[in-house]
Amino acid sequence: MSNTLTDHHIDVERVRKEFQVLHQEVNGKPLIYFDNAATNQKPQRVIDALIHHYQNDNANIHRGIHTLAERSTAKFEETRKAVQEFIGANEAEEIVFTKGTSESINLVASSWGRQFLNAGDEVLISAMEHHSNIVPWQMICEERGAILKVMPINEAGEIILAEVEKLLTEKTKMVAFNHASNTLGTVNPVKRITKMAHAVGAKVLIDGAQSTSHLEVDVKDLNVDFFAFSAHKMYGPTGLGVLYGKRNVLEKMPPYQGGGEMIKDVSFNGTTYNDIPYKFEAGTPDIGNVIAFKKAIEFIDELGKGNISTYEQELLSYATQQLSAIEGLRIIGTAQEKVSVVSFEVEGIHHFDLGMWLDAKGIAVRTGHHCTQPLMDHYCIEGTARASFSVYNTKSEIDTFVSALKDIITKFK
Ligand SMILES: Cc1ncc(COP(=O)(O)O)c(C=O)c1O
Repeated sequence: MSNTLTDHHIDVERVRKEFQVLHQEVNGKPLIYFDNAATNQKPQRVIDALIHHYQNDNANIHRGIHTLAERSTAKFEETRKAVQEFIGANEAEEIVFTKGTSESINLVASSWGRQFLNAGDEVLISAMEHHSNIVPWQMICEERGAILKVMPINEAGEIILAEVEKLLTEKTKMVAFNHASNTLGTVNPVKRITKMAHAVGAKVLIDGAQSTSHLEVDVKDLNVDFFAFSAHKMYGPTGLGVLYGKRNVLEKMPPYQGGGEMIKDVSFNGTTYNDIPYKFEAGTPDIGNVIAFKKAIEFIDELGKGNISTYEQELLSYATQQLSAIEGLRIIGTAQEKVSVVSFEVEGIHHFDLGMWLDAKGIAVRTGHHCTQPLMDHYCIEGTARASFSVYNTKSEIDTFVSALKDIITKFK
């Protein structure tokens, strides 16, 4: 199968040159990396920026007046500006750096939740949430005496909007759901549900972990109150994430953690807090990774989100077509609109065994519940195998993967 693709401008061989990690053998076979929804690989420019920082600019930020401190601070804040532009936020001050999507959601659940949730209030999440967008809400609901409710999904893995309509009442204070599901690939109708939630006075938090590298994100257009995502799922470093929040919402929230940077003045009689975003950034952040993250954004912008998305959609429909033709294989998640994620199970073969045997052929897929155990319960399964594609994957890799799967099924069934 050729890699010649049509309606985009991705030169995949050129893209692959930036990813040294892809050019290796695993278990004697060329690596095929289909575990991108867990974390995708980093282009050389991101790695170079991190090395450059430690070799040339390393200093703590915001507090120093010497040259290195000023250089580091300027570059750190340049990434904040780049993130603001990348997601279409009004101001850089609406961008808070965190450890990842999980911490961003925990920040909102703890800080906003403690301030604004009261006994009897309701938080609405969806049936396809990652544990990161379930557990923080369970914890704060328990603490505040609030009630956690769940938007149901249909068999294809789409939120049932008619049921959402019924669940939304004046008791609903927060609606939190993902832009795209890491397990099913479903792209959720963020604008539509946000409008419905706002109509009853609820705030909206979007878990954007699986959308920022695949879909156009414009937080102003979506009109969400919070948007959480991780750098490592968009060609950036691990251990770094972002919380976007509307200024007027963030300003009403108390700090999440105490420490340096988040204060204006401290005395033993009391403390006054810093302005946003610093109020939420206690302690020394991951300076090097923040600086390197700007290069990941540049990588995406250079290729163009539209091109990336068109290319990945071609991979998705090609893989879906090939996998659907395999007898005994069932795809979990068949929504109308999906990002490039295919979860599946094979009759008679445990997903862990599938993952292991694929690895023996150099193919990396994820297996298990994908941190979505309630979703597994919905489908009455324990787990799936999941192949997820990035802009550096190819149709010929999908061919190799499909033929490896067929081989495994024939041998081990
Ligand atoms: C939809 C979704 N939400 C949240 C997370 C958690 O992200 P992180 O581990 O970077 O905090 C993930 C990670 O897989 C995810 O896919």
